[in-house]
Amino acid sequence: MQTTPNAERYDRLTRSFHWLTVALVIFLFASAQVWDILEKGTPLRKGLQSVHISLGIALAALIVARIAWRLFGGNRLPVITSRTTHLLAKLAHLGLYALLLAQVVLGFGFRWAQDEPFSFFGLFSVPAPFIIDHELSSTLGDLHETVAWAIIILSGLHACIALGHHYLLKDSTLRRMLPAGRKNLQG
Ligand code: HEM
Ligand code: HEM
Repeated sequence: MQTTPNAERYDRLTRSFHWLTVALVIFLFASAQVWDILEKGTPLRKGLQSVHISLGIALAALIVARIAWRLFGGNRLPVITSRTTHLLAKLAHLGLYALLLAQVVLGFGFRWAQDEPFSFFGLFSVPAPFIIDHELSSTLGDLHETVAWAIIILSGLHACIALGHHYLLKDSTLRRMLPAGRKNLQG
């Protein structure tokens, strides 16, 4: 073990960023699965796509803020694990950050290549900084979908490991990412 099981909690902003990211990723993935079964051109399908794009812009801002906070402000707690799995855990967290960043870049590129309106709930639009060939649209879309699945698989595994720490190993890994009021969450 690298730390005592009762290591302190992550700071409030780190915890808020983490759970907001989780909520947005789940919504963004689920919305795409739902519109996929809807008929093309229906208002609901179009509405879901524009909410996906607006919340995608929100996720982009969140990821940038989260990484800046992680690098320059938030408290960093050592992973509670043996030396052998320490590197794996670090790599998985780094992989999640990298996939989320890649997904944001692909999402923006995809929309710009589609050459369709790109706005945040109609409040402001995000113009392309340079022209992206319309022909690249389907490649960017395929990559966006592949990365979406990679995020879901890796974060699913990550969530199972967090739950394993809590219910099987009974250490504080999950608890320190939960709101302060959950001190007495029992395994
Ligand atoms: C982790 C975050 C995200 C996930 C899991 C996700 C997932 C998906 C999935 C599965 C699709 C369907 C792909 C297809 O069928 O070809 C899709 C489409 C799309 N996503 Fe995302 N996405 C995310 C973030 C973003 C971001 C940040 C943006 C940019 C604002 C974005 C913009 C788009 C656009 C423009 C489409 C196509 C919509 C259309 O067909 O009109 N996504 N996304
Ligand atoms: C979309 C889903 C998720 C993403 C993208 C995600 C991403 C991340 C990232 C990047 C970190 C590293 C934080 C850092 O040290 O900078 C982290 C930590 C953590 N996540 Fe998640 N996570 C997700 C879902 C979940 C779920 C569902 C749970 C709980 C069941 C969870 C529990 C934790 C815990 C406990 C930590 C702290 C690990 C430690 O202290 O060693 N995560 N998450």
